[in-house]
Amino acid sequence: MGTKQMEVNTLSGTFGADVRGLDLANLDEAGFDSVYQLIVDHQVVVFRDQQFDADSFSTFAEHFGAIHAHPFMQGLETHPGILEIVKTETDRAAFGNAWHSDQMFVAQPAKFTMLYAKEVPARGGDTLFANMYASYDALSDRLKAVLGSLRGWNVGSREKLRAKGTKEPGTRPPSNMQEQRPPEDMQTEASHPLVRTHFDSGRKSLYFGGHTMHIEGMTQAESAPILQYLHTHTTRPEFQCRVRWEVDSLTIWDNRCVQHYAVNDYEGQRRRMHRITIAGDEVPV
Ligand code: SIN
Repeated sequence: MGTKQMEVNTLSGTFGADVRGLDLANLDEAGFDSVYQLIVDHQVVVFRDQQFDADSFSTFAEHFGAIHAHPFMQGLETHPGILEIVKTETDRAAFGNAWHSDQMFVAQPAKFTMLYAKEVPARGGDTLFANMYASYDALSDRLKAVLGSLRGWNVGSREKLRAKGTKEPGTRPPSNMQEQRPPEDMQTEASHPLVRTHFDSGRKSLYFGGHTMHIEGMTQAESAPILQYLHTHTTRPEFQCRVRWEVDSLTIWDNRCVQHYAVNDYEGQRRRMHRITIAGDEVPV
């Protein structure tokens, strides 16, 4: 499996793993299967000391499915599937600085996201994750049943999300990240069940986030208290883990069962990451 002496440490009481001693650039087929299983088992996995350039990162990612280019943000000119997330010493905004699951606004939302650290601040700039299995499991049976009959309407456009009365996740990205207008015919809104069943684990989890604008069949005013409750509940510290970045760390997370949040606490410092998202399937109830 391209392994020296693999060491796996947990990141919290319920999920997340920190892996050292595994060389992802030199995996055989069995190695890819094991990495896939690590992600399914731990939901968020940080692989330390990885050596990738844009080509080898793309090749590695393609083993897990088709790369999904971000409809609203420009990728690298040479590798459009890689989004460079940069916050410089003078930027104030940070991309991803709100709880969300990636690309919930398309019919087949992101399965995995891979984030590779190129430059990290001396302190701060961690990424938080919320375990959406654990928050589902903690609900009463009655609320599980109610939520299980509902679908969320998820929106990608920052303008529409702002109109919902929240700036999240519609905060303007840092100045050097180029926004783009998606092609007219590209879908940027989608309905998904609020409770989904994971294709690989068979477990149920909550499925909503900052892109969820309202609950289908309800007005925004009717939906807001339910969505606010879900936001407060799912982001409780008990359901979180935290990734502290090092240069050359690659974190892979499973958007089907986690939300994430980029912590913006490193003003005056620089952080640069390369991100690839892997397209998923339609969301099973
Ligand atoms: C994201 O939302 O994908 C960005 C996460 C991060 O930069 O930590």
